[in-house]
Amino acid sequence: MCGIIGIIGKAPVTPLLVDALKRLEYRGYDSSGVATLVNGHIDRRRAEGKLVNLEARLASEPLPGTIGIGHTRWATHGKPSERNAHPIATDRVAVVHNGIIENFQELKGELVAEGRHFDSDTDTEVVAQLITSYLEKQMSPEQAMGKAMERLRGAFALAILFSGRHDILMGARRGSSLAVGYGDGEMYVGTDALALAPFTRQVSYLEDDDWVVLRADGCTVYQGGFEVKREVRQSGISGAMIGKGNHRHFMLKEIHEQPAVIGDTLQTYLDPATRSVTLPVLPFDWNKVSRITMTACGTAYYACMVAKYWFEGLARLSVEVEVASELRYREPPLPEGGVCIAVSQSGETVDTLAAIRYAKANKQTILSVVNVPESAIARESHLVLPTLAGPEISVASTKATTTQLTVLLCLAIAAGRARGTLSPEAEARLALALIELPAHVNQALNMEEEYRRVAETVLAEARDVLYLGRGSSFPIALEGALKLKEISYIHAEGYAAGEMKHGPIALIDETVPVVVVAPTDAIFDKTASNFEQAKARGGKLVLLSDAAGVGRLGNQAVVSLTLPTVDPVVAPILYTVPVQLLAYYTAVAKGTDVDQPRNLAKSVTVE
Ligand code: F6R
Repeated sequence: MCGIIGIIGKAPVTPLLVDALKRLEYRGYDSSGVATLVNGHIDRRRAEGKLVNLEARLASEPLPGTIGIGHTRWATHGKPSERNAHPIATDRVAVVHNGIIENFQELKGELVAEGRHFDSDTDTEVVAQLITSYLEKQMSPEQAMGKAMERLRGAFALAILFSGRHDILMGARRGSSLAVGYGDGEMYVGTDALALAPFTRQVSYLEDDDWVVLRADGCTVYQGGFEVKREVRQSGISGAMIGKGNHRHFMLKEIHEQPAVIGDTLQTYLDPATRSVTLPVLPFDWNKVSRITMTACGTAYYACMVAKYWFEGLARLSVEVEVASELRYREPPLPEGGVCIAVSQSGETVDTLAAIRYAKANKQTILSVVNVPESAIARESHLVLPTLAGPEISVASTKATTTQLTVLLCLAIAAGRARGTLSPEAEARLALALIELPAHVNQALNMEEEYRRVAETVLAEARDVLYLGRGSSFPIALEGALKLKEISYIHAEGYAAGEMKHGPIALIDETVPVVVVAPTDAIFDKTASNFEQAKARGGKLVLLSDAAGVGRLGNQAVVSLTLPTVDPVVAPILYTVPVQLLAYYTAVAKGTDVDQPRNLAKSVTVE
């Protein structure tokens, strides 16, 4: 969702602001803008649509100034338009904002009653007008900011520029993330360390309710009326990590990074010498866990669905999996002694955050699997098991998912060992399957021409596509359908193969491709029957299986993709890769914006 950057520097800042906005594009946006101080006055350039439009505006109307703020906006209040694009400004302040001001109607009512005129449809404008109103009542910028923090409700990150004040820039956070960067005679504020990466790797993260006054040589952080200190750390993200390399899209680059990042993740959670998993000390006893509740959104939710099969099968533990947006409002009873596992790439997804807060309030131990260790979900968990995927830029999640699955399988193995449901031999067998996984994923990646052909000849022309799978392949069918929908805009459904005859079979005819995710496992024969039922209705079957499965069903498919033969327990991790690439090449064939699909955002910080 929205991205924020602010710089107080020595050189003209507009090129740096635009450069940072490019690194924030991955979050998803529909308009953008920058504001600087020119001879003490706020001046702005804004544009609807992609950053190239803003760059074109800046080329015809350059914006000088050594202090400024910039924004990529994902519309919530008010349609995407230049008028609603940030920075939102009055003659006294310019504001960029990520999140939602929940009491904006109430504040707007008060401000309009004071005689203030609003120029946009955004909730953000109440922040600009409120601070302006305080400044006009002779408050200092610091007093105005402190007072505004008391009035604003909701989740937000803000950066604020004051007219006539070349010496200060302010930031504030409640809910949405905001990082402060320390440079040499320059200071920065930005949504995340990625935005700041080429400027500085010295960063601190604001906590909820913090607000900060930046000066060129440092900053002061406040919480309530008091000054507070926030630790300055060396960010692990370098500018070099966030390029596309030789790949056409970030998504393709990230898909290809999977053997390496799964390997990095395994190094943390598995000892190849002893063929056993090595987890940090957990804040609970597996033998006393009353129930596991898993929660997440989107692709991360499907990772949880796969993990349910693992926890139940390997550790005989009862697991509930629920999308976070439902769990948080359903308010289910959670038995004392339960563990809530939250899974999130960004660690900022607002529904997942709210779900863990609910679980925490209900005395659950919170364990999170996140890719951004400084994120809100990580900070609010009792224990964090990080995925080592590195920055994921493409909106469609790929390498984060397979590393999430890798961590969750290690966790389920540890649970099985602790509960005596998994023998040392079985653990060693699974550890070996995991150790070999990066090589198997690499083999699956080497079939790229085959994915491209299926995408171009079977999927790209379709109006609807059905994905089927059974057991732990069912969530992979869901994931395949989600990936196809989000980046190629083709309607797709994922279904449990055995459920197909209860409705979706009616959709099948010779125009509907049916992608069947079918590694040879204990229920392969059952999937094979469903495959044949779909074939009998004329469906165009695309089979994803191993040599044995293709040998058995390949002659009935329009195309079969033969993946490496692996232990069925790790198969869901491997089979995630072909469904990613099928979606990727279909999107390329259709010419869609692969890395920034329409209407989507990378980090979903609104409900
Ligand atoms: C799909 C996708 C989304 C995310 C979801 C959760 O490719 O990326 O469905 O998985 O928005 O995001 P995180 O993992 O950041 O909580």
